[in-house]
Amino acid sequence: MQKTLSIIKPDATERHLVGEILAYLEKNGFTICGLKKIQLTKKQAEGFYAEHQGREYFERLINYMISAPVVVAVLSRENAIRKYRELMGATDPNEAAEGTIRKLYALNKTHNSVHGSDSEETAMQEIAYFFSDDEIVE
Ligand code: TYD
Ligand code: MG
Repeated sequence: MQKTLSIIKPDATERHLVGEILAYLEKNGFTICGLKKIQLTKKQAEGFYAEHQGREYFERLINYMISAPVVVAVLSRENAIRKYRELMGATDPNEAAEGTIRKLYALNKTHNSVHGSDSEETAMQEIAYFFSDDEIVE
């Protein structure tokens, strides 16, 4: 089964939305194969978002991502990457479709509650960034 990486971001962990978002993922057919709450370091956050280095929002993004703990999860289902991107909704909640996680919970384009991998290649990299093989169960 295909896997993707999800991050429940600081705005959501701080508002105690972890359980609600995980329940919504399970209701929508995703299986949680790996799960942990972590406090990202600046280096870890910068490494994770390395491709965004130099963008005007980069520093804001990094400071936000280290502002509180996050919950990282490995999700599996058929077409997990595409299906989770769909369920997550557009980056900017003002543009996100009804019923998407970002429409339901996100505050704005930076404080947008969740992350999801955008391709098979990034999913594999991002899962390995946070999880060792023995932390992922089928
Ligand atoms: P991006 O990969 O474009 O969005 P997504 O999370 O939907 O894959 O951007 C990564 C994160 O960077 C995004 O979730 C929030 C932040 N960001 C901003 O704060 N402002 C912006 O204009 C963009 C494009 C992203
Ligand atoms: Mg992205």
